[in-house]
Amino acid sequence: MSEPFDNTAGPLTTESGAPVSNNNQSEAAGVGGPLLIQDQVLLEKLAHFNRERIPERVVHARGAGAYGTFTVTADVTKYTRAKFLSQVGKETETFLRFSTVAGNLGSADAVRDPRGFALKFYTEDGNYDLVGNNTPVFFIRDTIKFPDFIHTQKRDPYTGSQEADNVWDFWGLSPESTHQVTWLFGDRGIPASLRHMDGFGSHTYQWVNEAGEQFWVKYHFKTDQGIKNLTSEEAAVLAGQDPDSHQRDLRESIERGDFPSWTVQVQIMPAAEAASYKFNPFDLTKVWLNADYPRITIGKLELNRNPENVFAEVEQSIFSPAHFVPGIGPSPDKMLQGRLFAYGDAHRYRVGANADHLPVNRPHATESRNGNRDGYYYDGRHGGQKNYEPNSFGGPYETGQPLWAPVQVNGATGEWETPKHSLDDDYVQAGYLYNLMTEPEKERLIANLAGFIAKVSRDDIAERAIANFAKADEDYGKRLAAAVAELRA
Ligand code: HEM
Repeated sequence: MSEPFDNTAGPLTTESGAPVSNNNQSEAAGVGGPLLIQDQVLLEKLAHFNRERIPERVVHARGAGAYGTFTVTADVTKYTRAKFLSQVGKETETFLRFSTVAGNLGSADAVRDPRGFALKFYTEDGNYDLVGNNTPVFFIRDTIKFPDFIHTQKRDPYTGSQEADNVWDFWGLSPESTHQVTWLFGDRGIPASLRHMDGFGSHTYQWVNEAGEQFWVKYHFKTDQGIKNLTSEEAAVLAGQDPDSHQRDLRESIERGDFPSWTVQVQIMPAAEAASYKFNPFDLTKVWLNADYPRITIGKLELNRNPENVFAEVEQSIFSPAHFVPGIGPSPDKMLQGRLFAYGDAHRYRVGANADHLPVNRPHATESRNGNRDGYYYDGRHGGQKNYEPNSFGGPYETGQPLWAPVQVNGATGEWETPKHSLDDDYVQAGYLYNLMTEPEKERLIANLAGFIAKVSRDDIAERAIANFAKADEDYGKRLAAAVAELRA
């Protein structure tokens, strides 16, 4: 945050600092007469009010954030040279924004939707953003499908509401969604609070050590509060009675010193094993089995400070999967690759070209130094310093050291499908997940799915959607078909 501004001393002023004589009566042409255009206090106030909103995020519009501390608890220097991970006990300031995906800014918290888990580490090598969700997988595996997918989750152009037809039409025709949809309609689809859920980096990322050895890594944030969920029925009541339930719970727990924390774990795959792993490790619709790559605990994340001003620090916060630091880089995951572009572009549209200079977004443990200048709301921080490189006036210089290690590629360019490894298909891991569930969990999953599928207007849309679950597990498909048939009878 910038220095708190003392709004308690002295008279009210206009934006240009002139004292305000009357903030309750507009200036009128005579008692009972029309208002005057010379009333700068009135005009400025109305005009500023009209400009209070910035565009809400096109997805994840609804959210809450808090600052915290990440502490390293295990030596990972043999995997990465990232400085913030270089020593056991080392602490790094963080900012975490939680969100729902589909709802607008004012929508309710207690809904069935993935939760965003966007984490900024303010490291001495610049900000590292890990922009994940509370789920380890996603609905699709290629960026080019994302706008279509989100259109089906958002408001229909004709009805202005979310439509079951659009959701199930897309999911039915996109069988790679079967795993994530099974997760979403299971018990974890509606967390009881933001504190009682896990977080995931979801994608595979590259770690590289001092010797240049590469590893593929997946991040897990295990809630220390324990997993707690709401049933569909509980959530429907809560969403109606208290739409802000989750953001209030987070703020109040931090206010009373009950700081939520997560145990940070990673799965690590030596780079050479990627080609032969039974699942494509860069396919975001798949997890790496814990039996194959056990989770290693590396740190603790604690949230311990609320933002002072929600608009300045939460609404204007920006997170980008392209914000890496030395020792960490992207994988060839086709979802991640598209996201490396999408977020910076969204920030420049939503918050502006100088979004990175705002207090919540700028590096806290170092400074940004480059030749980028000017644009709307540029604060003149560089004074008269030179704005080009190379220069002989002592300006900042390039290091010649890439942040991450080069990745071998081969073959012709083309609109290729994501390569399939030996066990890859669209259904296998959805089947695993279904069979991990207890009988009551399965019953709730079937009821949640059937309640939504039954709303579609065409039988073929319902049938195609159900067929995907049947391919994941025969029992799953049969029970779902029966439940939908009963509701549609
Ligand atoms: C390739 C597909 C995707 C695209 C094109 C995309 C695009 C976007 C855009 C444009 C925003 C709004 C950013 C802003 O206005 O600041 C956003 C927000 C977000 N996305 Fe994605 N997204 C994709 C997939 C994902 C995936 C797979 C995850 C999680 C694993 C994810 C997690 C988030 C989160 C957590 C936010 C909210 C960030 C915040 O709190 O400011 N997105 N996404």
